[in-house]
Amino acid sequence: MNRLIEQYRRDFPILQGNDVIYFDNAATSQRPVQVMEAMRVFNDTCNANPLRGLYAWSVEATEAYERAREAVADFIGAAHAREIIFTRNTTESMNLVAYSYGLSVCRPGDEIVITVMEHHSNILPWQMVARQTGAKLVYMEPLADGTLTDEEIESKITSKAKIVSVGHVSNVMGVTNPIRKIADAAHAQGAVMVVDGAQSTPHMPVNVRELGADFYAFSGHKMMGPMGIGVLYGREDLLEAMPPFLTGGEMIEYVTRESATYAELPHKFEAGTVNAMGAVGLEAAIKYMKKVGFDLIMSQEELLTKRLMAALKEIPEVTVYGSSDPTRHCGIVTFNIEGCHPHDVSSVLDTEHVDIRAGHHCAQPLMKFMGVGSTARASLYFYNTEEEVDRFAEKVSKVRGWLGYGN
Ligand code: ALA
Repeated sequence: MNRLIEQYRRDFPILQGNDVIYFDNAATSQRPVQVMEAMRVFNDTCNANPLRGLYAWSVEATEAYERAREAVADFIGAAHAREIIFTRNTTESMNLVAYSYGLSVCRPGDEIVITVMEHHSNILPWQMVARQTGAKLVYMEPLADGTLTDEEIESKITSKAKIVSVGHVSNVMGVTNPIRKIADAAHAQGAVMVVDGAQSTPHMPVNVRELGADFYAFSGHKMMGPMGIGVLYGREDLLEAMPPFLTGGEMIEYVTRESATYAELPHKFEAGTVNAMGAVGLEAAIKYMKKVGFDLIMSQEELLTKRLMAALKEIPEVTVYGSSDPTRHCGIVTFNIEGCHPHDVSSVLDTEHVDIRAGHHCAQPLMKFMGVGSTARASLYFYNTEEEVDRFAEKVSKVRGWLGYGN
């Protein structure tokens, strides 16, 4: 094992002292002690309601929360921390854009353009906007390997487009979409570019301005942070013009019996007591990720993905979906074993202490496009090892036998 990887792996208590192969990182990643320690310090030294109290603990909690916002802004290249809204997760971020921006701007005849590869959290909010406004939902179709061609992008993003919303990395195919190209096509037609970054932020450097993203959503728990903290980046001029999504405490400037005026950005979009400890954990995760460095994260994932895909290719009953090029998988390998239901595959692997996801992966239109009901999915992170990949492949080769199909 790479000495650096071995060293970083020791930061993850859950990965010690057992033989579990955790290959469900696209669903949620593991957390290093540094993240837990940052949250413990917050809890033990300044836990109080942020943005409200006039006493020291509350002021410190507020400062910690706002420092985390600065760290997120820096991490994704936002122009200003005002453009960072803390949410619970990617799903809530996408709903914020749909309810607040989508419902305000869409009219009958307008088009909202997405792809067939989207996670349900980048489909259902737009179905809602389409239903309520009379706008039409248009799907870009990829090739079988997940490629979105220039022709497809240009033919689907027309002058009718108001919103284009695409996942940066598919949670099933692992393919990275050409966001800059899609954003340029959207902007040329006067549409805004929304990006679901849930599967990209843990694995590659992201700069929202270089990508041309007007909105960019992601979750803390997939990038070594805690569950329950997510982010919506939004271009300041767009956020300024949008109505609040959730209303109530803390997001106001002044309230009368009949009406209210709203707080400045970003607080206009953060109703109720915020998840300051979660934000502090996310900041620590970002710090940890920077320490490891994307060079090492990406090279280790590529090495493991190559090894895994090569090993699975040797098993005749296994079909791997998406590109045959491991460098286009972002650590995600989706597969089926002939004659075996993916739920059975996952359950039998669980008895061998192997954790993968099985099912439709919250991407049923993509399953239909791929001609399957469900699949198994192994998703890797930089702390996984070559030895785990080898053991995993060996167990996959035995699944049919274990399920009674013979081999
Ligand atoms: N969206 C997560 C996944 O794809 C849960 O597994």
